[in-house]
Amino acid sequence: LGVATVSQAAMAESAVDKVVSAGELRVCFEAGYMPFEMKNKNGEFVGFDIDMGKLMAKSMGVKFTPVNTAWDGIIPALLTDKCDIIMGGMTITAERNLKVNFADPYIVVGQSILMKPSLAGKITSYKDLNDPKYTVVTKLGTTGDAATKKYIGQSNIRLFDTEADGALEVVNGKADAFVYDLPFNAIYAAQNAGKVVHLDKPFTYEPLGWAIRKNDPDFLNFLNNFLRQTKGDGTYDRLYQKWFES
Ligand code: ARG
Repeated sequence: LGVATVSQAAMAESAVDKVVSAGELRVCFEAGYMPFEMKNKNGEFVGFDIDMGKLMAKSMGVKFTPVNTAWDGIIPALLTDKCDIIMGGMTITAERNLKVNFADPYIVVGQSILMKPSLAGKITSYKDLNDPKYTVVTKLGTTGDAATKKYIGQSNIRLFDTEADGALEVVNGKADAFVYDLPFNAIYAAQNAGKVVHLDKPFTYEPLGWAIRKNDPDFLNFLNNFLRQTKGDGTYDRLYQKWFES
């Protein structure tokens, strides 16, 4: 083999080229995480991540293909090429970053708390929940899961597969509190006024980023420049207002 052949073989094809030749951008996400990705009444996927994904596909001249994937299988789905990118409100953590690459953060969130209305005044911070007499629920495999174990580890922790099932435990009085990303909790509290109280001071720092397979500098470069463009030309702000401020 000549030198050129060897170096070409050693260089994996970028997902950018695969996306363009396939004519589609396959985006992994997990519906149910308001306002980033949800299913509307007509069964269509909608939300901030979905709109960004559609714009991204458009900017590549390809169609947007949604790949709704359970959260605990979402990184494996990316690594086994079931999708080209995860646009799912994924927090950039060191642990995940050992397995995937992240584009620059597109938003920063943190964990907040939904609690039983009867606890209002008694519980004023996550610290007050750190007691075995409290049952705290969150979603399996999320940063809510990690933060609850780390900061509220003395409580009776219960994990749910979906955010909706977790939050419902508080509405039904079966749990004292639900720990999750602030944007979800803010919307949930607005939709369930009187049934939950939102402690809306985030207690973790969580940049969210689009995840791709490692060793793909071309795609990473594309994503960071795409993000910069949407932030500079008003597109990002328009979508932010649509999903976070209305
Ligand atoms: N930001 C949190 C995490 O990375 C929760 C994300 C959940 N996303 C979803 N599409 N269900 O663990």
